[in-house]
Amino acid sequence: MKVAIDGPAGSGKSTIAHELATRCGLVLLDTGAMYRTVTLACHERKVDVTDDEAVAKVAQEISITFGTADDGTQTVALDGRDVTAEIRTPAIDAEVSAVSAVPAVREAMVAQQRELGNAGDVVAEGRDIGTVVFPDAEVKVFLTANPEARAHRRALQRDIDDPKQEEAILADLKRRDKADSTRDVAPLCAADDAVHIDSSSMTIEEEVAQISALIDEARAAAVKPAVQEEPAAQTADEPKKTNKAKKGEDKPADPNEAFYEGAVREYGLGSRALLAASIGLCGLLSKTLWHWKFENGRTLWDAEGGQMVIMNHVSMIDPIVVVVSDWAHGRRMRVLYKSEFDKHKIVNWFFARIGAIPVKRGTADIKAVRRAQRALQRGEDVLVFPEGTRVYSDDQEVEIHGGFALIAQLAKAPVIPVAIVGARDGAPGGNKPLRPGFMWMRAGDPITFDELGVKGRKKQASAMEKVAMERVYALRDALRKEHPGKM
Ligand code: DC
Repeated sequence: MKVAIDGPAGSGKSTIAHELATRCGLVLLDTGAMYRTVTLACHERKVDVTDDEAVAKVAQEISITFGTADDGTQTVALDGRDVTAEIRTPAIDAEVSAVSAVPAVREAMVAQQRELGNAGDVVAEGRDIGTVVFPDAEVKVFLTANPEARAHRRALQRDIDDPKQEEAILADLKRRDKADSTRDVAPLCAADDAVHIDSSSMTIEEEVAQISALIDEARAAAVKPAVQEEPAAQTADEPKKTNKAKKGEDKPADPNEAFYEGAVREYGLGSRALLAASIGLCGLLSKTLWHWKFENGRTLWDAEGGQMVIMNHVSMIDPIVVVVSDWAHGRRMRVLYKSEFDKHKIVNWFFARIGAIPVKRGTADIKAVRRAQRALQRGEDVLVFPEGTRVYSDDQEVEIHGGFALIAQLAKAPVIPVAIVGARDGAPGGNKPLRPGFMWMRAGDPITFDELGVKGRKKQASAMEKVAMERVYALRDALRKEHPGKM
């Protein structure tokens, strides 16, 4: 999913794009910040911004990276140094139009923007996103506002309440509007298929609501036709063409995309029947073999909205019993599993249809993170095994993967710790046969980010990682004590 927001300086693109990124689970790409960073680098190296060749050389030499500040806002770094504040000064405003008009600078920036954009779902804002950078964006918006409204917003943004200074900002905006829209390369202009929004007298909330509705529509249009196919009509060998594939992108669309992105309740009848039959069969067999019990499950089943569930992982039974219990209480749960399983085509096909989401371990799998985030936001539960793989013995070295905390944080969902014991005895793994017996699970109370007592996104995520896993192990140890000898 690509969302392109273009418009003149001060039209509110940055605020709107930031808000959309948070609400709709998209990565924010502020392309103006990139041109500003090139301008700052020229400034620092005393390069004359009218010397196209020298400016182009700077653009090719420097490294521009984005990060996230503790308050969740985006930061920009020039060769690793945070320059977020330095690129938004009148000195940079004055020179950035000249720098961004140099064709070789644009070429370098557009290449980086496409690379960033193709790594995941993005909302990109700038002047040429819908026309040049992502002409295939699913949603294109051209945001305008009258120059006075834009100058006033910019003054507010920069804490200026002197009318003289606001007038100077207005004059600079008008000058930049002219420069940006009359330059030869990629001038500021709306794409033919862009939706025009005049924000002069709209609130941010109204603008965001309007664009979010466009995003929801585009997502529904991309997902529905494939999801509504019966499973038999869509196999991993015969990829369904999504809109992207039709548009002739060289990378074939993932045949399971619709299952990863769509709501489980909206899968086609065939897939829902497959899921119900699998749940029924697994429930019956597992209950008969292991008489499992899920204590305190109400913390999950009675909760409102999607919950991030994490648990210790000792056997292949663990996900089954939790998903079965959740489903039996009218909820829908998506399990995150290691993508290595997908090498078996049938597993890949089946897992997609029961709502599971693959994760490439050892990488920042942004796609999986966003899919899980959106599932939580839709009200589906997500089950993650932070230990990453089955733990066959207590001596096994375990590395905790903290991605669950990030996903929960992005979706603003609580984390519910769950522990299981007895499953390692029942399904020892390897070539060892299943053994009938008993299994117990217990859920802890939901943990919210607010109750962690730390401020800042990164600190909260690492606190959640630690606290939530400690609770899982505390629940497990309590269960082991109550059922001696059970693992
Ligand atoms: O959005 P902004 O004010 O931060 O952008 C700074 C400058 O960068 C603006 O004057 C035009 C230029 N720009 C551009 O030419 N193309 C883009 N995609 C984004 C910004």
